[in-house]
Amino acid sequence: RDRAVEMAREAVEAAPAGIRALLRAVGRVAEEEGVAVYAVGGFVRDLLLGRPNLDFDIVVEGDGIAFAHTLARELGGRVQEVPRFGTAHIYLEPDDPALPSRIDVATARREFYEHAAALPRVEHADLHEDLYRRDFSINAMAIRLGSSGPSGLIDFFGGLKDLAAGQVRILHTLSFVEDPTRLIRAVRFAHRYGFRLEPETEACARAAVAEGFLARVSRERLRNELLLLLQEQGCGGALQMLAELGVLEALLPGVPLDPEVQGLVDAVDGLVEAEPELCRLSQLWLVKLLVLLHRLPLSAGVAAVKRLRLKRAENQACLQVLAGWRIAHDLMVAPHADAASIVAALAEWPAEGLLLLVLLGGGERVAAYWREWRHVRLEINGADVQALGVPAGPRVGRILQRVLSARLSGDAPDRETQLALARRFAAQEE
Ligand code: CTP
Repeated sequence: RDRAVEMAREAVEAAPAGIRALLRAVGRVAEEEGVAVYAVGGFVRDLLLGRPNLDFDIVVEGDGIAFAHTLARELGGRVQEVPRFGTAHIYLEPDDPALPSRIDVATARREFYEHAAALPRVEHADLHEDLYRRDFSINAMAIRLGSSGPSGLIDFFGGLKDLAAGQVRILHTLSFVEDPTRLIRAVRFAHRYGFRLEPETEACARAAVAEGFLARVSRERLRNELLLLLQEQGCGGALQMLAELGVLEALLPGVPLDPEVQGLVDAVDGLVEAEPELCRLSQLWLVKLLVLLHRLPLSAGVAAVKRLRLKRAENQACLQVLAGWRIAHDLMVAPHADAASIVAALAEWPAEGLLLLVLLGGGERVAAYWREWRHVRLEINGADVQALGVPAGPRVGRILQRVLSARLSGDAPDRETQLALARRFAAQEE
């Protein structure tokens, strides 16, 4: 027990100064209010691992919402209450990027599940109960906060031992049944920290998959967890682990996860250096999703995207890229590029689609398109073409397209030559 207190102290002392000050401030308010307050969950896990974590979750043995208001006054934050769950969020605007912009405050409570995968109902109970309802031992530790630092590490379920052993372990055998999204979370944490699933946990995971429990969870919750997993760096190995457990098939039926696709997924995070601007405009998880789906027959890819219930713009981007990448890719790798066709094919393409083409070997032409070709404008327009006697209609566009093609290959640099070309094309197309 003393060792645990010592470890909590060491972990807090190793944290950035701003975090230490924040923990002390919370501890001071707790003492003033006469309530026990604990840092919990992923924040504690990462503190013990010496990793930054900006999701600061605290549990109050007492009225969490009232405590949130007092703490927010002290820290200069804004409170949003969630009375149904006895929780509150405090929003802060820290100058220091190493500090959280949000603190989640919970009331120590017991939750019970009326049936598998239902929303939990809330009842006041104690910290043990609060921690027991969590997913894995490494996420179920707490640090009691005081004004002079942490006064103890609370580790009812052997989380510290599992951190040291490098394993993800559920707290009880029904964990995956109660919340099947934990199947994805287990893999996410194992991948992130280079841990393995503890053998009994793995057996429970396989049993839950075999029983089809994933089908009981809403598509939205599964989507959210899949997205979190795709946001992990180099998550190809995690996808492989999901595939081995049979979870991937439930999330993205039919997706081929051969070494090549896995390698492409892992290459996505490396694009940040080669294509910083496209990456800034992209959601890299979406690029990874496109990598996973692009080889499926179009109808299967579209069905997979629909199942995920993405936001409208993300959905649209996926469908557009899945439908168009083959043609675009052929243009990218054809021996002689017709720049105008590439501009026409890629116009309105989402940045994520361009990054997919980069990954598939079209880097050079995507770069030329992005940095140069897409900015090129003609010195003539539709009115000029009509003035040559071409009636308004699709022919005007076709002629402009051919002139642009010449312009992009350097053949028609000014208005004069462009008009001459347009005249020639108009005569040809008659
Ligand atoms: N939790 C859980 N079961 C879930 C989701 C969350 O038990 N299906 C618990 C875990 O104890 C977790 C805490 O709620 O530590 C907060 O959840 P979340 O913010 O998703 O996890 P973190 O552990 O903070 O992970 P991350 O580092 O990815 O933010």
